[in-house]
Amino acid sequence: MCGIVGYVGEERAAPILLEGLQRLEYRGYDSAGIAVLREGQLAVVRRKGRVKGLGAARSLEGEIGVGHTRWATHGAPSERNAHPHVYGGVCIVHNGIIENAAALRAACEARGEVFSSDTDSEVIAHLIAAEKGDLLHATYSACRKLAGSYAVAVLSAAEPDTIVCARRASPLVVGCDERGLYVASDIPAVAAAGRKVYALADGEFAVLRKGSPPRFFDGALKAVGKQEIVYDAAEDIPAKGGFRHYMKKEISEVPEAVSRSLCDLSKGEFSDLCEVLCHTQYLHIVACGTAYHSGLCLQYAAQKFARIPAEAFIASEYRYSDPIVPPGTLAVAVSQSGETADTLAAAALAKERGAKVLAVTNVPCSSLERMSDFVLPTRAGREIAVAATKSFNAQLAALYSLAGALARGRERAAPPLAAAASCVREALAAAEQVRGWIPYFLGARSVFFLGRGADYFAALEGSLKLKEISYLPSEGYPAGELKHGTLALVDGRTPVVAIVTDPALADKTMNAVHEVYARGAAVFLITSVPACLPCAEVTASVLLPKCAPAYSPMLTSLPLQLLAYYVAIARGNDPDKPRNLAKSVTVE
Ligand code: F6R
Repeated sequence: MCGIVGYVGEERAAPILLEGLQRLEYRGYDSAGIAVLREGQLAVVRRKGRVKGLGAARSLEGEIGVGHTRWATHGAPSERNAHPHVYGGVCIVHNGIIENAAALRAACEARGEVFSSDTDSEVIAHLIAAEKGDLLHATYSACRKLAGSYAVAVLSAAEPDTIVCARRASPLVVGCDERGLYVASDIPAVAAAGRKVYALADGEFAVLRKGSPPRFFDGALKAVGKQEIVYDAAEDIPAKGGFRHYMKKEISEVPEAVSRSLCDLSKGEFSDLCEVLCHTQYLHIVACGTAYHSGLCLQYAAQKFARIPAEAFIASEYRYSDPIVPPGTLAVAVSQSGETADTLAAAALAKERGAKVLAVTNVPCSSLERMSDFVLPTRAGREIAVAATKSFNAQLAALYSLAGALARGRERAAPPLAAAASCVREALAAAEQVRGWIPYFLGARSVFFLGRGADYFAALEGSLKLKEISYLPSEGYPAGELKHGTLALVDGRTPVVAIVTDPALADKTMNAVHEVYARGAAVFLITSVPACLPCAEVTASVLLPKCAPAYSPMLTSLPLQLLAYYVAIARGNDPDKPRNLAKSVTVE
């Protein structure tokens, strides 16, 4: 999704900006640009497509500039709509969505101003250019007119040694070292040995002026002090390590991701959280996409093992659902990136209504971590491929650990999690068999994934993975629900993947297998119940090691991830950078 970088200091800005943009590339974008200011002149280079298309910008002279990678929301992906946008000597890069852009633009146009893009963002440059006072005050006044979300970095020909930054509901961090001052939309783009990094809080502003330390201001423009963020400067984009794609590499890292993310919550560092768990009456789990699916798995495990009422919510729905948050609610916000706008907003709403917030995230110092009362880290390591894989399994390891701690707090027991985790490597090896299934999926019209109980959540995740990287329509469905309408879609061109890991429910799910087979579907089985095999109605199967059924998505997700991966590459798609998608969804 959109990324911001900015620099002012002693060095040439262009190479620093381009390097920062490269570090943001993995997030997904469709155009890029930089602007450099020199002797009162703004030089802007923008391109549709990749950052490497900005090569011509490397030679720009000037020690101050801003750069951007854009993921289109308002206006097509094109050079015209790429940032930076310039109006009246003011240059901006913007992440977020300006919800009242149409009305603001109409007012500017009524004054005779001409727009040069179709974006919602350009209006910010117009508003700032129309304000009086220095760049900080002009930016402040302009921001007060904006509805929606923004992280913005602003240059002005009138103040050639200053970048002004502002944020609301979209992350922004500032860095400084002896070479100069930096701004970026996330820590990896500014991380460097010896560089101090500070995060802007919601509603704050920052002024980066050459030769001075960064200054920060609250929403009333009162100067505020800032704590430095402690981060891992060594963390950089990992190499592919001999793999063709990051996605395959990241799937191969699942066993380590799981074992590192198992967590003993009785240990000292979690004592405050444990105290809260003992008094927790309800769980509200908020998350999006894959993280929502791991949230469903927590809902299931917490109810089953701790007998605590738990509900997983899609964060974008929760935030507008006027939720009832009873006393004693713990809100568990699950997010790989810790920057997903909807998850942040849902967690903030739960907090506002009295819940304690527990962040379950893979990125230390992320916005989610900073706004939460407690943190349960997932330790999957940096995930680069847009499709979440190892982070899902790591979330499950952490969330099942949480379910176990909740159960113990109620003098109940959960099945041993370590035993399930120890099967992950064996499951990964078995999962490779799905490669032989590919020919059945290439010409499919759509694909169904079926399961019951925890297998249903795995089915949802398998379907999402297939959709996002193979672009095949698919649905994850509760096995028992198919016959209530959707069975009408099943025919010889709809392969069905059935997931069966709970011996108590196996016969029930196998009934659905009989039903879809009878309608001509080729059936593929992912199971840990040997009694389901052999079955004449099953075209091919993967037999996984047995584990407690509630924990099985930690294993069944592996053949599902690999199936999506192999189908995607067989269809000629780049599984690391699926069309239209971004790694970190920082807009609503
Ligand atoms: C799917 C995927 C997305 C993310 C979702 C939430 O493979 O990656 O569905 O899971 O955008 O992202 P995070 O976990 O960063 O909040």
